[in-house]
Amino acid sequence: MQSYEKLLLENKAWAAEKESNNPGFFKELAKLQTPEFLWIGCSDSRVPANEITNTQPGEIFVHRNIANMVIHTDMNLLSVLDYAVNYLKVKHIIVCGHYGCGGIKAAMTNNDHKAILNMWLRSIKDVYRHNRDELEQIENIDKRADRLSELNVMEQVVRLSQTTIVQNAWLKRNEPHLHGWIYGLKDGLIKPVMELKAGSEIDPLYRYEDIK
Ligand code: CO
Repeated sequence: MQSYEKLLLENKAWAAEKESNNPGFFKELAKLQTPEFLWIGCSDSRVPANEITNTQPGEIFVHRNIANMVIHTDMNLLSVLDYAVNYLKVKHIIVCGHYGCGGIKAAMTNNDHKAILNMWLRSIKDVYRHNRDELEQIENIDKRADRLSELNVMEQVVRLSQTTIVQNAWLKRNEPHLHGWIYGLKDGLIKPVMELKAGSEIDPLYRYEDIK
């Protein structure tokens, strides 16, 4: 059996078990999704949103990319954000980074990862540059990377608050609240590192006052 065939086989078993534990589960779920959360996480295979939060299909709207970045020109991220905020009306947006993140570590090196990855990782280098003094006081390179993971999550949360999508929603419905979390690969635990409640102060440079 090919490795991918096992996935299809396991899928059948999973669907059958789900249905037998909770008859009508899929029929109910197929009608509509009303998730309360948007999750922006790392693509890392070890950080699956539903599994580490013990949530079910239908509970979390998910976007993942390398190092859980919020890039203001990323149409993929922006359309997910727009849909989640304006149509699904999520109450919370969680940016979840993780310790031991390969993207973060790669951004700390001087290696040429070739055009596309270099472009992606440069935003993380910017976060490093803004926090260079603090980071370079940490001698241990893994610990320094872990701190950069935390600072990176905080920066992405702030970036969310700089979008008209979020500012608009704050004005209209006083939601969503923004959260920055870090997941520990070594213990499976999530540590909250930041929270921006709806209506929080935004650097005036990034505040849109004529939002309609
Ligand atoms: Co990662």
